[in-house]
Amino acid sequence: MVPVLGIIGGTGLAQLANLEGSRRQVVRTPFGEPSGPLTFGRIRGRDVVFVARHGYGHTIAPHQVNYRANLWALRQEGAHAVVSIASVGGITPELGPGTLAVPHQIIDYTWGRKSTFFEGPDQPVTHVDLTHPYDGALRAEIMAAGASAGEVLVPQGVYAATQGPRLETAAEIDRLERDGATMVGMTGMPEAALARELDLAYAAIAVVANHAAGRGASRDSIQLDDIRAVMEHALARVRNILEHLVECHGHS
Ligand code: HPA
Repeated sequence: MVPVLGIIGGTGLAQLANLEGSRRQVVRTPFGEPSGPLTFGRIRGRDVVFVARHGYGHTIAPHQVNYRANLWALRQEGAHAVVSIASVGGITPELGPGTLAVPHQIIDYTWGRKSTFFEGPDQPVTHVDLTHPYDGALRAEIMAAGASAGEVLVPQGVYAATQGPRLETAAEIDRLERDGATMVGMTGMPEAALARELDLAYAAIAVVANHAAGRGASRDSIQLDDIRAVMEHALARVRNILEHLVECHGHS
């Protein structure tokens, strides 16, 4: 069977313009409804299934996303691997606005989110291994796709997942950096852990939208107006990488 690639689109990527023959379908799961109907289509002749993490109208805040339903739905519809597109703030100097990165580690600062499929009276307590939260082979494929698309990607990074929806204080960013984080976003967890529970290969393309609070141009404040233009340009590059990724993924 030709593998189906799942894609979770983040802020600014509510649809994939380059999907051929796409159709939308409402999918229900035992964990409720995903963020919106799934979009099925083909990129360069290969099947992909897509969900917009914040809904097609960007109405679902990071702490309100039904991460369980999104991942369950993608797997139910045949995805065995999932690429997350996630906007982040850059903490370290090499992660300036517009940079694309493929994180290799994650630290979870979120709370109160539904973060396991293994709960309820008839579910045995299960501890999944998450030593390496992102799938190494899928990360390598993303890097290869970037190279063949002519796009530069930073090959690693430590993603700090914060609760949001507010942005961080400058002191919080200092703490995250002391912890070893190089970028900060609000949706990486529990998404990565839930993907592991479902045995989905999971990796992310982090799109740096802004300097994190207190850093660089965000020294005094984060200018949300500047973010839009940065994201528009960066997401065009992400679409290009995804086209190449789908192609090499189908051959592996
Ligand atoms: N912090 C948290 N999440 C984000 C940021 C940020 O600065 N930018 C984009 N997503």
